[in-house]
Amino acid sequence: MAKNRAICTNNKVDYITIRKAMISGARTIDELVELVGVCRECEGCKSELNAILSSVCGCMNVSLEAVVNAVKNGADTVEKVGEVTGAGRGINEETGEECGKCKGLIQNIIDIGR
Ligand code: FES
Repeated sequence: MAKNRAICTNNKVDYITIRKAMISGARTIDELVELVGVCRECEGCKSELNAILSSVCGCMNVSLEAVVNAVKNGADTVEKVGEVTGAGRGINEETGEECGKCKGLIQNIIDIGR
């Protein structure tokens, strides 16, 4: 997962806030507008929101679509999704430890099925 940075510069919404909204179930820009107040008009919103929403695991470059498909095909735990897609298996380059920052989002995708 990327380090925190401003995404919506008009309303001062950062990357981590958007990822937390996704862990709470946000999957669309409309849902981000409602949950965290992104403006959808500034350069950050226009250039980055779709990419953030479509990615689950930045470490392993796994998309939301890949995880949703894994869940629809029967992966019903974070571990099973990882076996199928590789999501959640990144290693922090600085510490050498498992990253795992996307596991909350993977669990939410399992929970709500999208
Ligand atoms: S974002 Fe690091 S393991 Fe998925």
